[in-house]
Amino acid sequence: MSSKFWIDFIFIAIMMKTFEVIYSVESGKGIFYTIANIDSLDEMNRNNSNIICQKLIRHQQPLCKSHTELIPSVVRGLRLAVQECQHQFSNNHWNCSGYNITLPSNKKKGRGKTILDNLIMKGTAESGYLNAIISAGVAYQVTLACSRGQHRYCGCDKTVYDMPLEGNYKWSGCSENIHFGAAFSKRFLDTPHKKRLRKNPTLGLVSLHNSHSGRKVVVDNMGVKCKCHGVSGSCEVKTCYRALPSLRIIGDILKKRFTASIFVELKDLKLISKENVKKNVLEDELTYVERSPNFCVRNPRYGSLGTSGRLCNITKNEDGKYSEGSCDNLCCGRGYRKTEYMKEENCHCQFIWCCNVTCETCMVKAVEAICN
Ligand SMILES: *[C@@H]1O[C@H](CO)[C@@H](O)[C@H](O)[C@H]1NC(C)=O
Ligand SMILES: *[C@@H]1O[C@H](CO)[C@@H](O)[C@H](O)[C@H]1NC(C)=O
Ligand SMILES: *[C@@H]1O[C@H](CO)[C@@H](O)[C@H](O)[C@H]1NC(C)=O
Ligand SMILES: *[C@@H]1O[C@H](CO)[C@@H](O)[C@H](O)[C@H]1NC(C)=O
Ligand SMILES: *[C@@H]1O[C@H](CO)[C@@H](O)[C@H](O)[C@H]1NC(C)=O
Repeated sequence: MSSKFWIDFIFIAIMMKTFEVIYSVESGKGIFYTIANIDSLDEMNRNNSNIICQKLIRHQQPLCKSHTELIPSVVRGLRLAVQECQHQFSNNHWNCSGYNITLPSNKKKGRGKTILDNLIMKGTAESGYLNAIISAGVAYQVTLACSRGQHRYCGCDKTVYDMPLEGNYKWSGCSENIHFGAAFSKRFLDTPHKKRLRKNPTLGLVSLHNSHSGRKVVVDNMGVKCKCHGVSGSCEVKTCYRALPSLRIIGDILKKRFTASIFVELKDLKLISKENVKKNVLEDELTYVERSPNFCVRNPRYGSLGTSGRLCNITKNEDGKYSEGSCDNLCCGRGYRKTEYMKEENCHCQFIWCCNVTCETCMVKAVEAICN
């Protein structure tokens, strides 16, 4: 882990004492609860930063108020991250759902949480993935908005990269500003984790680590895009800029890291691997401190909805091998019910030269299997 991280940690530890009073009256609303709340606003108010700011947790409000224009991008980044997470886990027992399923709360009024809020508060590998992907998603979306000139706080990254470019290519001097995007994501999302450092240092550090690791995937995978200039697109001059990778690439990389997540413990203020004591935890690794619950069964406290009601795949692999989305795997041995229904499909398609395809609509029988 970088020394910068440790300087941050010590700094935070000192700040924690100072801000104890402020933090102790914080409202404790979950970030996904907030997003679900914003979803329920009407079209007009959904982009209204003042209304969104009021819905955030207390210690995110100063940042929200000083950078109101960026907040719709933050919200969009969080939504895209959840969508990507759902795509990545669509065939797993845990499918990243429930960001908008609110749980009854026995605490004082104003504390709201959803299934995903409970999940992200834990120290499991799934919490680690979620922390990483939302951190990446916010960095991504804020960067995109900045490079489109939508905000007065941020613009292009004017660094002239010394990466050599071939032929008549030039650096445009206006690259997508991931440095700003990543820093903003950190300021916005790390606050609740920092708050937890004192109560539960291991969990706080693991969350901060995973959040950092997610943003770093975006930074490390910036690519180069080029545009043509010249008389009617003759491409005499090409200007290039550093550009964001797609969110899908980020989701894929993080999914691989999730599969290889490291079980860690805190020793001498450092996260070390519990299974291989000599091993230092790297920035590019996701970490966890808590074994995952059984996501086959419903356990809202751990963010699990169970797999009952999941659509599953009854088609067997040719080689009869286990597949992730199969009913065998997803239904956890409880079996499934099959429903047959008729669906519309394109059929008798004809290619008409040139360039059209015409089809008829046919009704075909389809089978849907749902886990018990
Ligand atoms: C809200 O913002 C999004 C993204 O910037 C935009 O596409 C949409 O039209 C906006 N909606 C309203 C009502 O302004
Ligand atoms: C949660 O979001 C999903 C997808 O956006 C939507 O289909 C569903 O109706 C929402 N559920 C609630 C309880 O709002
Ligand atoms: C995810 O799992 C839940 C709970 O089993 C289910 O209701 C939901 O439809 C699933 N979502 C997707 C996209 O498969
Ligand atoms: C179901 O599994 C089969 C065999 O693994 C695969 O070919 C097919 O694409 C799957 N269908 C869906 C809807 O995922
Ligand atoms: C393609 O065929 C459709 C249906 O016959 C027609 O409406 C459409 O105009 C055709 N498009 C072209 C490019 O010919």
